[in-house]
Amino acid sequence: GSPGWPATLGPLGTSAGAVTLRPVKIRDARTWSELRIRNQNSLLPWEPTGVGSWAERHQPSSWPPLFAVLKSEAKRGTILPFVIELDGRYVGQLTVGNVQRGAVRTAWIGYWVDEVHSGKGIATAAVALGVDHCFGPVGLHRLDATVQPANEASQKVLKHIGFRQEGLLVRYMDVNKRWRDHLLFALTAEEVVGSAVEALVRSGRATFV
Ligand code: ACO
Repeated sequence: GSPGWPATLGPLGTSAGAVTLRPVKIRDARTWSELRIRNQNSLLPWEPTGVGSWAERHQPSSWPPLFAVLKSEAKRGTILPFVIELDGRYVGQLTVGNVQRGAVRTAWIGYWVDEVHSGKGIATAAVALGVDHCFGPVGLHRLDATVQPANEASQKVLKHIGFRQEGLLVRYMDVNKRWRDHLLFALTAEEVVGSAVEALVRSGRATFV
């Protein structure tokens, strides 16, 4: 395998329950489809434009080809595709992508959580687990996160972890059928004091379980 893959991370306690990260599985098809379709309205404004309707793209039969790409890229070490679990149940995904080695040792991080569970610290806990893993076993030095200015919830998640705003990427990504500006947030390893998880627990936003 590649450094830090496969891995199961956590648990970390939140007000909703215990958050863990584990690799995506071929058997996630039904749950993935159900959550993605049910969360269309909360996800569509923030996600890259896709081909075909949302419903078509998120049928259970769309999962195996997507999973195959995620699995082979994970094996090559270019992505880390995690499912976010709450008390052992699939509630979202956290993906580390475009892993670059050599002199930059950087990647981007992205995430979504079922809106039924929003505002309980699940994404924040998941990002803390992901950050520590990336700066530890994966051997990265920097993580980027791009977020639209209107996405306040996601910016809060990043700020809770200590990501800094570095700039504005003009017309950066094709999202919901338009070129959208994105704020660039970033975090480097030396900015994390101890670990992101420890810092989160110290700030009272998560607990050791
Ligand atoms: N406006 C302002 N703040 C909000 C809003 C809103 N509409 N909705 C939630 N919040 C706050 C919450 O109260 C919470 O703040 P607090 O911790 O200070 O109380 C914070 O935003 C969210 O923190 P968490 O509870 O840790 O996050 P959650 O588990 O709710 O997940 C997420 C946040 C991932 C952004 C979720 O809302 C989601 O999946 N949204 C749709 C997809 C998406 O936008 N993904 C991120 C794309 S950008 C990227 O991946 C880098």
